[in-house]
Amino acid sequence: MTGATERVSLDLANGAPFPEDLWAEAVYSRRAIPDTLATGHPAPGHADDAEHDPLPQGARLPLAPPPLQLAPPRDARASLADPATLAALLHYSYGLLQHDATPGGWPLHRAVASARCRYPSELTLIAPTATFRFDPLHHQLVALPRLLTRDQECGPGDSRFAVISSRFARTARLYGAYAPRLCAQEAGMLLGAVCLVAAALGLRTHAGLDRDMLYGLCAGRLPRGEHPMGYVEFLPATRTPTPPAWLPPDLASALRARHSGAALFDPDPAPAPHAFLSDAAAALASAPFADFSCHLLLQRVAGHAPGHYVHSDGHFQQVGDGDPLVSLEQIGQTEGRVSMNFRATACTAYIAVRRATAVARYGADAFRRLHLSAGAAAHLLCVAAARHGLSARIHNGYDAARAEHLLGLAPGEETVLFQVAIGAARPGAAFRLPVVF
Ligand SMILES: Cc1cc2nc3c(=O)[nH]c(=O)nc-3n(C[C@H](O)[C@H](O)[C@H](O)COP(=O)(O)O)c2cc1C
Repeated sequence: MTGATERVSLDLANGAPFPEDLWAEAVYSRRAIPDTLATGHPAPGHADDAEHDPLPQGARLPLAPPPLQLAPPRDARASLADPATLAALLHYSYGLLQHDATPGGWPLHRAVASARCRYPSELTLIAPTATFRFDPLHHQLVALPRLLTRDQECGPGDSRFAVISSRFARTARLYGAYAPRLCAQEAGMLLGAVCLVAAALGLRTHAGLDRDMLYGLCAGRLPRGEHPMGYVEFLPATRTPTPPAWLPPDLASALRARHSGAALFDPDPAPAPHAFLSDAAAALASAPFADFSCHLLLQRVAGHAPGHYVHSDGHFQQVGDGDPLVSLEQIGQTEGRVSMNFRATACTAYIAVRRATAVARYGADAFRRLHLSAGAAAHLLCVAAARHGLSARIHNGYDAARAEHLLGLAPGEETVLFQVAIGAARPGAAFRLPVVF
């Protein structure tokens, strides 16, 4: 790492806002990725995980077994005070859902995708006089002890906020100074996951990006080395809200089945079902934030002509026709080679944001905000894919400048933050088992 990138990591670990040069280093260039990525070994000078990344300490509170289905309670208003609702919210947002028993693979898979399964995000529930950290590996909550007040009356059911924070060091051990980008992307996906699962359970939420509010919620509450990323507020239940129409009744099974495909994304070149497109569009329309656009280069979705589609108001409109393979392979490159088998994908989504406008308005904080907005939308796309039995692969091997050009984004204004390739799952070498608590 250079001195500049070391400084970036240090500033971020201390909770400073994202420096603006991260845009150039992390979005437009992959130079920041060190050799440790190829070897899988920690970067020199980084201690191992156990020493620097201990499990949270404090009284452990077991959670109820997560229900197999997600639905609002039949005869009461949805509330976190209901043990089944609390357990379902945490488990299906960021819980441990699959165990991959393949030798040499990444064994533990959670409800959201994570670059090389590093899972740098943390989910913390904040009640008026207590703070609880979710421990997905044990399906428990941990009461963060030094934060308890003397008269601790609150339990997790009294939580008013879920805060998402990120331990950049966990990802930096493999990815060096590229970690903040990956962590910001994952934090957004987790925020999308919490809002989605809450909606399915009938909980009313407000997803928050406001930095002052976020830092206020986190002040004195987060362990050292964690960067505040975003929050979800649980609103008082006035009436049980209707979950978004696109949500399948079997959402829990779609979440349990969600996956990113094999190590090299090489799906079965079979068409995706017709309804995938309308579901994906409806999912994007229900995203917690609207400040993104989604372009789809579509090759094979039953009943839809190949071409370039753009999301607008819950629908995909076709804006260009013809097989997009050449564009896909020009955009989706990792250091000069094509990142995935785009000859077999059903479609690839690009989630873009108005970067210049956001930087003018929010300065360095635009990086966090926009990655959260785009990440929440990206997770919804992955879930819509899983619902139709498709794999969805977030892949950062893309050329952002070429994507801007080929997708016709506003020059100097719009930037692609997520490339999500979608295709029919092909049986692979991996052997994934569901995890049951
Ligand atoms: C922010 C982010 C970036 C990722 N970037 C890449 C990538 O560049 N290349 C790749 O092959 N996979 C990438 N992935 C996919 C992860 O490796 C994958 O999600 C992880 O192996 C977990 O698999 P699962 O989602 O099936 O549980 C990325 C995932 C995330 C969340």
